[in-house]
Amino acid sequence: MDTWIGLMSGTSMDGIDAVLVSFQDKTVRIHETHSIPYPENLRQRLVLASQNQATPDEVGELDTLTGTLFADAAESLIRNSGIERSSIRAIGSHGQTLRHQPSGLGRFSLQVGNPSIIAEKTGITTVGDFRSRDMAAGGQGAPLVPAFHQHIFGSETQDRCILNLGGIANITWIPSDQDSSVTGFDTGPANALMDAWCHEQTGRAYDEDGLWAEEGMVDQALLSDMLSDAYFERLPPKSTGKEKFNLEWVKTLVLRHEATRPEDVQRTLLQLSVITAVRQMPQSPTMVVYACGGGTRNRLLMKELALALSPIRVLNTDELGLDAQWVEPTAFAWLAQQTMERKPGNLAEVTGALGPRILGAIYPA
Ligand SMILES: Nc1ncnc2c1ncn2[C@@H]1O[C@H](COP(=O)(O)OP(=O)(O)O)[C@@H](O)[C@H]1O
Ligand SMILES: [Mg+2]
Repeated sequence: MDTWIGLMSGTSMDGIDAVLVSFQDKTVRIHETHSIPYPENLRQRLVLASQNQATPDEVGELDTLTGTLFADAAESLIRNSGIERSSIRAIGSHGQTLRHQPSGLGRFSLQVGNPSIIAEKTGITTVGDFRSRDMAAGGQGAPLVPAFHQHIFGSETQDRCILNLGGIANITWIPSDQDSSVTGFDTGPANALMDAWCHEQTGRAYDEDGLWAEEGMVDQALLSDMLSDAYFERLPPKSTGKEKFNLEWVKTLVLRHEATRPEDVQRTLLQLSVITAVRQMPQSPTMVVYACGGGTRNRLLMKELALALSPIRVLNTDELGLDAQWVEPTAFAWLAQQTMERKPGNLAEVTGALGPRILGAIYPA
């Protein structure tokens, strides 16, 4: 049986998630998983570059350093799995996004993690650069996971909304009525702002289980200031990233509300993530929301999400047979399969591209 590897590091810049999977019809079998957190120094350099504070030399070095780490992740994965290397058809590697600028004349999406290094070190065909073809066709280049969500999670009897809680949150709306189209877009921040604020105030990379946020209270004035950002009103297709939702964005708003305690800001940011996701979901009383991504581990975030959506149910994608933590990297393994089989990976109605496109660049073994 063919197996595929997916390598992913999202906007949270927490590290690389790797999966070895096989696909059978609409089911995924996960054979092995592996994660490598970014060393703190590398993470800092990536964060700086994502804030446009890196020279071309530094970007080039980051391309090599992350490419090497992605290759290491794949190697550990293969070793731990005990699977024959020859059964692995290809690696789909998303890379690490540094900047994503989907509009304007010079629109682009920049990922580092040189796929040539991955192909060279593993001896396995690697597919990379998934976003740029969709953008060349006029699309946002994001989100790219909806086609996979539709394939794996689509149901003829239940309307489903898949909510990925990464650094940025994105939703995929999959109506059970096959004649209605799938929609999907980035709703705004999920963990990105909470992580940034928590790191600056406490030195910790993220607020484990939302415990710090739990000590605070929502500042309603600050929250409504945050909610007035034009991004939340914009109609899809739309996508966003850390170049917009970052520490500066938080600080600018917090300055207007100086009395707010740091833990209140954290609590408010958590509420912002919940409200912006819920408000932009389709208003379907019969849908079930399935969450995935690192945010599902934030107990308070999940509790507030359930509260905001009630009586609509919120479950994890685990309930649909795919562990919430591994949905994103599995999507890139699937996208690599699409590319190798010369099938489209984007949903034009989601990204706004002119049509379906075969995504990615192939780096032969
Ligand atoms: N125990 C936890 N408590 C709270 N947040 C968590 C926990 N575990 C992970 N996270 C959050 O999940 C993020 C990583 O999620 P991930 O899905 O990898 O996002 P991305 O795709 O942006 O890399 C972390 O940065 C952190 O904010
Ligand atoms: Mg991550």
